[in-house]
Amino acid sequence: MMDSIYLNGAYLPLSEARISPMDRGFLFGDGVYEVIPVYAGKAFRLDEHLKRLQFSLDGIQLDNPLTTEAWQEVCYQLIQQHPGADQNLYLQVTRGEVTTRDHSFRRQDAGTPTVFAMCSPLKAPDKELFEKGVRSVTLDDIRWQYCHLKVISLISNVLLRQQAEDAGGVEALLVRDGWVTEGSASNFFMVQQGVLVTPPKTHQLLPGITRDLILELAEEARIPVREEAVKLETLLRADEVWLTSSVREILPVTQVDDTVIADGKPGPLWHKLTQLFSEFKINLHR
Ligand SMILES: Cc1ncc(COP(=O)(O)O)c(C=O)c1O
Repeated sequence: MMDSIYLNGAYLPLSEARISPMDRGFLFGDGVYEVIPVYAGKAFRLDEHLKRLQFSLDGIQLDNPLTTEAWQEVCYQLIQQHPGADQNLYLQVTRGEVTTRDHSFRRQDAGTPTVFAMCSPLKAPDKELFEKGVRSVTLDDIRWQYCHLKVISLISNVLLRQQAEDAGGVEALLVRDGWVTEGSASNFFMVQQGVLVTPPKTHQLLPGITRDLILELAEEARIPVREEAVKLETLLRADEVWLTSSVREILPVTQVDDTVIADGKPGPLWHKLTQLFSEFKINLHR
């Protein structure tokens, strides 16, 4: 049976899905999204992701087209196509189709939002990346000032990721006026003398669901945590650096540009948090 996607109330094969070129998502990148991992057939931290979706919708002044229960049902239906499997759930809402291209959205014939959701197999992160750690490349954070919203207009993030990869890294570490903000599609943590440090939530970074979970797990395990801004020069002298996201979980960074972090191996706190993270996932299914 061919997989279906969800589009505006219907489940249909991806090959049959059609969206108008006059959709504001296509014309302006006017929309928001979520990426949710599904472990063993269960959406991970779904409530938190749906809350952040609401937060992003509020941020762009777009009413949520679905209730929480309706979102849960869409997710459930898509996940059920491969029950028990690890998957990647993608949700997107745009401001919908209009008749004329106009920046302003109140003058428009207020169209109905376009709602799209799909589920695809979750690629297990490459084991070697976790064993050896990865190199990240620092780049100027050229993005706008609403980085706390998960919006689909991702051209800066796309260019930054490509630039990092072209320079031999797996991710960009973005720096604004000397302060490290986040990755192109991840948050970062640093370990400094046994303390786990990550920047506080501001408009300059996405409030990551993985970030929040790591802070929760660290606090439960009585690992000292500080939410404070981090200078690039401090990060380069850290004992450990990690990147975190729903797709990559907790990725150890062992090199930043040409600087090797500590002894160049994933550190003890990374091992500890990775273990706590896997236990948390397993406990969800008991
Ligand atoms: C810019 C940015 N920061 C951080 C994250 C990590 O967020 P989460 O842990 O919710 O996946 C992402 C995820 O894609 C992202 O795009």
